[in-house]
Amino acid sequence: MSFTAREVRVARLPRGAVRADDFTIVEAPLPDLAEGEVAVRNSWFSLDPYMRLPLTPRAGLHGAVGVGSVLDGAAVGTVIASRATSLPEGTVVLSQKGWRDGFTARAETLQPLDPDLGPPQWRLGVLGLTGITAWVGVEVTLQPAPGETIFISGGAGAVGLVACQLARRRGARVLASAGSDEKVAWLEREIGVDRAVNYRTADMEGFLREAAPGGLDCYFDNVGGETLSAALRAMRVQGRVGLCGAIAQYGDDNYRAGPSDFFAIIEKGLTVTGFNAGLTGPRGGEILPALSTLLSSGELVWREAVVEGLDAAPSAFASLFDGANTGKMLVRLAG
Ligand SMILES: NC(=O)c1ccc[n+]([C@@H]2O[C@H](COP(=O)([O-])OP(=O)(O)OC[C@H]3O[C@@H](n4cnc5c(N)ncnc54)[C@H](OP(=O)(O)O)[C@@H]3O)[C@@H](O)[C@H]2O)c1
Repeated sequence: MSFTAREVRVARLPRGAVRADDFTIVEAPLPDLAEGEVAVRNSWFSLDPYMRLPLTPRAGLHGAVGVGSVLDGAAVGTVIASRATSLPEGTVVLSQKGWRDGFTARAETLQPLDPDLGPPQWRLGVLGLTGITAWVGVEVTLQPAPGETIFISGGAGAVGLVACQLARRRGARVLASAGSDEKVAWLEREIGVDRAVNYRTADMEGFLREAAPGGLDCYFDNVGGETLSAALRAMRVQGRVGLCGAIAQYGDDNYRAGPSDFFAIIEKGLTVTGFNAGLTGPRGGEILPALSTLLSSGELVWREAVVEGLDAAPSAFASLFDGANTGKMLVRLAG
């Protein structure tokens, strides 16, 4: 087998906003296979906000990625050569080898995909980290009760759109924020959100006061920053806050900084729970069948924002932080 892969490497660490030219695309010939290894041609890979975090010196649990490295990330591909009996040619596998169109790996590091669970790229979104995250936030962490009011920021993003629908199914009244009037209309029309707001143009505190006069029972935070502070001020006494992400802060040198109104947590006796789907372990496997059933029955709407080809990946990644996507941002590679 001779296959020269192309991969996206870090050309320099972004300062502030990510730019497409923070990355470069290079050719990388794949080595001959050793016993127990397979070669995979990727067909899809995921672009996620968290991938901004290793590109800073304050990388934390994610670990820093240096100039010249390829970012890791979830990918789906097909085995094109095999020296492992467990993964014959033609097997479709899930890996953490995104940002490239091909790679070699030991077979035991890859997960063969069950074709009955839906289109393979769903394993990068609604039937992968995205869906598990939304589930953990709504069904495990916040558990909004019928009639309670939950506010979900980043509502038209991948995690947000699933979280909004799960909260609706529980009978909660759902408020959501997003970055354009089009997204706001889509959330109210297609996703069943009771009231949505464009955080770029609206007065967030005024919206929350008016839409939840008795205070928010729950807040699912995808964005951090000023929206988190506004939500903390709008919480009712002994409300619940689930901290999922802080994309509004990822481009800051000090993205780990907390909300400006931290004291609201104390005076209102709020329960604030951070959650990380990457730490869910085997529980993740139990969540996927439940999501798959909801998808099959049409009770859960899913949406993807697909960009074509490896060359488009750097600018697509940068555009995640400008709100270019509605739903899950994915890169599709020519097969
Ligand atoms: N805890 C976990 O295990 C876990 C797992 C996955 C993801 N996450 C986090 O969950 C959040 C959503 O992730 P996702 O994968 O679903 O991504 P996503 O929402 O599909 O994409 C990012 C979206 O964030 C919004 N955004 C960008 N900059 C913003 C800003 N400054 N303020 C407010 N919104 C902004 C944009 O939409 P607008 O048009 O609305 O601005 C953009 O479309 C992220 O913070 C991510 O890090 C956490």
